[in-house]
Amino acid sequence: MKLISANWKMNLTPAQTREYLQKFLPLVEDIKDREILICPPFTSLCVAGEMLAGSGIRLGAQNCYHEPRGAFTGEVSLDMLKEFGVSYAIVGHSERRWIFGESDELINKKVTACLKAGVRPIICVGERLEEREAGLTFKVVETQIRLALSGVEEYTSSVDIAYEPVWAIGTGNPATPEDAQLVHAYIKDLLHQINPGHRGETRVLYGGSVSPKNASEFMRMKDVDGLLVGGASLDPESFSQIVKSF
Ligand code: PGA
Repeated sequence: MKLISANWKMNLTPAQTREYLQKFLPLVEDIKDREILICPPFTSLCVAGEMLAGSGIRLGAQNCYHEPRGAFTGEVSLDMLKEFGVSYAIVGHSERRWIFGESDELINKKVTACLKAGVRPIICVGERLEEREAGLTFKVVETQIRLALSGVEEYTSSVDIAYEPVWAIGTGNPATPEDAQLVHAYIKDLLHQINPGHRGETRVLYGGSVSPKNASEFMRMKDVDGLLVGGASLDPESFSQIVKSF
């Protein structure tokens, strides 16, 4: 099933989350043929979990820590997230990589912990502008995926991948659907190389300046299996249009 996900980033308080979902739920209540995922900040997971219960809409975390408990000030474990009804976690978002310095090694630990906990990781990959200009897009994406899945290669079907070119995030300058398609097809080939037993259940999502205007163009591409939406997911009307765009 296609997966349309909202990454709210550091936006919307619990009260604003309640208001958002009161508007959003009726707009999408008839939609059953695609998966909808909301990833609010940690502080909104409790209210979102209560409001989404029984709706069929999934709840995801924007991040997690790989250790189950202990002296890790400021971190949140997968067991804590699961208690709110979280079934997905975004791992390795470019803002985690480039603002908070997350390494491929740490991302690999988080992916491994998610798989162990039964939380489906959405592994974010994508090149920076200078890497794109140097013709390194495929190499960067391949390295990030291989390292993220290191040691857990046989579980490729239990993850989703988001291709998010860093230069397209929050800039209003998305990749062209054709360029995204090329990278998505490459990622799918790569998953078969990494795991010859790969069952093809991995969705490859596109993210980076998706809007109600361009969503359907991405969803028309053969290997675009869904979207990861930041800015345009902050308004319930706009996100519902994206959900219904194909
Ligand atoms: P954007 O963010 O839609 O605001 O570009 C996407 C993302 O970072 O996941």
